[in-house]
Amino acid sequence: MKKVLIINGPNLNLIGEREKDIYGSISFEEIKKECLKESNRLGIETDFRQTNNEGEIINWIHEVNSDYDGLIINPAGYTHTSIAILDSLRSINKPKIEIHLSNIYNREEYRKKSITSEGVNGLISGFGVNSYTLAIQAINNLLSNK
Ligand code: DQA
Repeated sequence: MKKVLIINGPNLNLIGEREKDIYGSISFEEIKKECLKESNRLGIETDFRQTNNEGEIINWIHEVNSDYDGLIINPAGYTHTSIAILDSLRSINKPKIEIHLSNIYNREEYRKKSITSEGVNGLISGFGVNSYTLAIQAINNLLSNK
């Protein structure tokens, strides 16, 4: 079975409680459930993780080459700042997709630049929980050469 790692960055554990006008009221647990549902439907395995630490994100990205077939990542606030996460993404030679709940291009100026997306195959931004399920579909297609 194909195995995909889903990494969630800082403050995403508070989704559903923080800035509901932007991120909606769906909880992080519900997002996890939707991801599991979609991966079961497609017959792939997903590991869903969250951390508030940049170094932990980087260590998890390093696991992908040896232990996973692909990576989906929401780097959250680190999207706009982290050259270290970009460098680690560039070291991965498996399909990788960046996602965001909100559309980072219709928000503040400082969110319009995604440093980390320079290291991934593609970016899905602005569809709420569907950004996650669309990314699972897209990575499944990439892994099946569709
Ligand atoms: C986010 C967008 C980022 O700009 C922000 O810092 C987040 C969440 C999103 O999923 O929309 O924490 O990655």
